[in-house]
Amino acid sequence: MSRAAIVCGLGAWVPPTVVTNHELAERLETSDEWIRTRTGIEQRHVIKPGEATSDLAVEAGRRALESARAGGEDFVDVDLVVLATSTPDHPCPATAPDVAQRLGLGGVPAFDVAAVCTGFVYALAVAASMLTAGTARQALVIGADAFSTILDPHDRTTRAIFGDGAGAMVLRAGEADEPGALLGFDLGSDGTGAGMITVRAGGSRQRSTGTPASEGDQWFSMEGRAVFTEAVLNMSKSAQSLADQVGWSAAGADRVVAHQANVRILRAVGEQLGLSAEQIVINLDRVGNTVAGSIPLALADAVASGGLRPGHRVLLTGFGGGLTWGSAALMWPELTVIPPNAPTVWKEPV
Ligand code: COA
Repeated sequence: MSRAAIVCGLGAWVPPTVVTNHELAERLETSDEWIRTRTGIEQRHVIKPGEATSDLAVEAGRRALESARAGGEDFVDVDLVVLATSTPDHPCPATAPDVAQRLGLGGVPAFDVAAVCTGFVYALAVAASMLTAGTARQALVIGADAFSTILDPHDRTTRAIFGDGAGAMVLRAGEADEPGALLGFDLGSDGTGAGMITVRAGGSRQRSTGTPASEGDQWFSMEGRAVFTEAVLNMSKSAQSLADQVGWSAAGADRVVAHQANVRILRAVGEQLGLSAEQIVINLDRVGNTVAGSIPLALADAVASGGLRPGHRVLLTGFGGGLTWGSAALMWPELTVIPPNAPTVWKEPV
C-alpha cells in the first residue's frame, strides 16, 4: 500500500464580531435583500483594529491540535507548519513562524503559501507531499485570512462578500487505505487572469518605482462577473478530473466542500457535477467568503452540524486569485472536532 497523508485533526475559528447585511446597508448603498439573493450571505465576522491574520491562525491551529491530541495514540509532535494566507501580518517575513512559535511549536519548519482562495488546498498538497516524502511526520496546515483589512471601505460589492476566519488540519504520515487518507490532488493556475483578483499596490512592482500608490490601489479589487464564470468552470473541471483520477464519479462523492464564495457559484458547480443539494456543503450564509479559511471552516461547520460523517467520500475544491484552483479527495475519518465558535445550525440546503 502506498504512503499517504492522513487527516487526524480539524479546528476552525472566526473572530467574535459579526457584521450583518443590515449593518452594512446602514453604511453603504446596498440591502440585505440584494446581498442575500445575489450571494446567499447573511453575515460575516471581522477582526477588531489591532488584530491580525496570525491571531485567527493561532486560534484555529490550537483547536486542530486539540482535536488531533484527542485522537490519541497516533499523535506525534507536529514537525511542520504550513500557513495559507494572502493577508500576512507583514509583507515580510512570513506569518507561519510566528504562529508556530505562539502555538508552542517553535523550531519546526514554518512557511506561508499564497494562493488566495485556493490557498488551503495548495497548502494541503504541499504538506501531504512532504509527509509522503518523509521530510516531516506530522503537519499543521492552516488557512487564515483577514480580508476585512484590505477591502475598500466604500466598495459595497467586496464588503458584502468577504469575512475574516481561519481553519486548520493536522496531517500525519500513514497509508493510503486508512480512513482520512488524502487520496489525490488536482492543482492548476492561469496567470493570464492575474488582474481579475488583485491588490495593485504594496508589492515590489509598485515599490520599485518609488511612487506612491494611486488612490484606491491599496485596496483589493475584483472583476466579479468574470471571476464568477471562471470559478464555476475551474472548480467543476478540477473536481471532475480528480474524481476520475481516484476512481470515483464526482456525483458519487457524498459531500463536495467547495470554496464558499457565492451560493450561486456553489449551485452552478453542483449542476455541472450532477450533485443534489444535500451533497453540497454550505456555510457561507454565516461567514461569507473567508478566503484561505473557507474550506476548513466549512468542513468544521459540516462536522459540527452532523452534515459530514465518518465514511463519507469527500471532494474539496477551491478557486481563487492567481488565477488558481485545486481539489483534494478523502474518505472522512472519525475525528474529535472542537466545534467552531458559534457554528452553523444545519439547515435544509438552499
Ligand atoms: N448591493 C447592491 N448592488 C450591488 C452590490 C451590492 N452589495 N454589489 C454590486 N451591486 C450592483 C452593481 O453595481 C451592478 O449595478 P449596475 O447594474 O447598476 O452596474 C449590479 O449590482 C449587478 O452587478 P454584477 O456584478 O453584474 O452582479 P452579479 O450578479 O455578478 O453579482 C458578485 C456580483 C460579485 C456577487 C458576483 O459576481 C460574484 O459573486 N462573483 C464572484 C466573486 C468571488 O467569488 N470572489 C472571490 C474569488 S474566489
